[in-house]
Amino acid sequence: MKILFIGARLFDDIALYAKKERITSVLTESNPDSKNLELADIQYVVPRGMEKPKEIALKEDVDAVVPLIGIDKPLIEVSMLKEDLENNYGIPVVASPLDTVITAGDKLKTKEFFIKNEIKTPDFNKFSKNHSKIDLPVVLKKFEGQGGSGVKIALTPSDLEECIPYFEESFAEKFVEGFEISIEVLRWNNKTVPLVPVCKGKTTLDCTHPLDKLKTAPLNIESVNNEYIKETAKNIADLLGSQGVIDIDIIFDEKEEISYFIEINTRPSGTRYLTAASSDINPLNELVDMATGKWKSKNVLKRLKEYYALEIPMGDYKTDKNNYKFRNFHDENCFVIHGPEKFQRITIRSTSMQKAFDTANKLNIDYKKFY
Ligand SMILES: Nc1ncnc2c1ncn2[C@@H]1O[C@H](COP(=O)(O)OP(=O)(O)O)[C@@H](O)[C@H]1O
Ligand SMILES: [Mg+2]
Repeated sequence: MKILFIGARLFDDIALYAKKERITSVLTESNPDSKNLELADIQYVVPRGMEKPKEIALKEDVDAVVPLIGIDKPLIEVSMLKEDLENNYGIPVVASPLDTVITAGDKLKTKEFFIKNEIKTPDFNKFSKNHSKIDLPVVLKKFEGQGGSGVKIALTPSDLEECIPYFEESFAEKFVEGFEISIEVLRWNNKTVPLVPVCKGKTTLDCTHPLDKLKTAPLNIESVNNEYIKETAKNIADLLGSQGVIDIDIIFDEKEEISYFIEINTRPSGTRYLTAASSDINPLNELVDMATGKWKSKNVLKRLKEYYALEIPMGDYKTDKNNYKFRNFHDENCFVIHGPEKFQRITIRSTSMQKAFDTANKLNIDYKKFY
């Protein structure tokens, strides 16, 4: 079995799994200095875009393609490559199709999708120079963006005015005070498996992105039913016709006790380590199984576990374990260190949350500053 992986940045997460599955890995990457290139059996440095990966997929006669793309921008092009390779050459591409990517890639379209399907999303209005009266605080959102790049919380009328030039194409969304939640959903051959709801901390007025917060899984909030989150997430993936893995962002309003759906990303998620630690399902390995034809939803459901998982941003941390050899949660008490230099994170698995914190203490990790 020969698979083309597009993008080297996340390849360290699955290098060992691909080997174990006896896959010949072909890897394309546009950055010649990228890490992980040498982890593949065959590697190509190519210009940006999907033209060369297509050429290489055909030339190398691969059995399937797995895009490992962690950013939004190339997703449209990837979905077009999917259409082309699947329809014209019979090569499966483990990624969401164009329609799905278009809806998820534009936050306004996503909201329209939620409303149409009666899924709760925070109230919003289009934002423009001549905006009508807006209750503050309010969240301004560009139609596109990730990692908080197109999102700003306006606290005062003057904040709002200052935002006008930058937020021309955008909408103003009600600020929701409560817990940020997300869930990854696997979907392939019309079978859907929602994994585990993850808690990413509370929303803050200074718009601290979940990347910089302490996160836990499974979600444990008394008034939130995890099964409801999973069911709704499954429903969303089915309605959207997603393929591969997606993640869905939710904010639980503590006062109203309502879960509001805010965003969908049709790509591997930053929460994948927490998901793997807690559920024992590594979403990227599942993409490989989808590519090889081995993936069965029933089998995933059988393997699903419920460990306690804790993820802490560590910034700069000296370790020789942040590499492809140590990416597996192999037993009931273990941890994985990941992320780029200066932005490292540790994800700890245990049989109770207390034990997970005990591990953090043993490793001298200062997590109290995240409270
Ligand atoms: N309605 C909201 N109320 C409160 N905080 C919000 C709201 N929408 C977004 N945020 C904050 O901004 C972050 C980024 O918003 P999101 O829509 O998920 O965009 P991104 O694509 O940048 O992740 C969220 O994780 C949350 O911290
Ligand atoms: Mg988000």
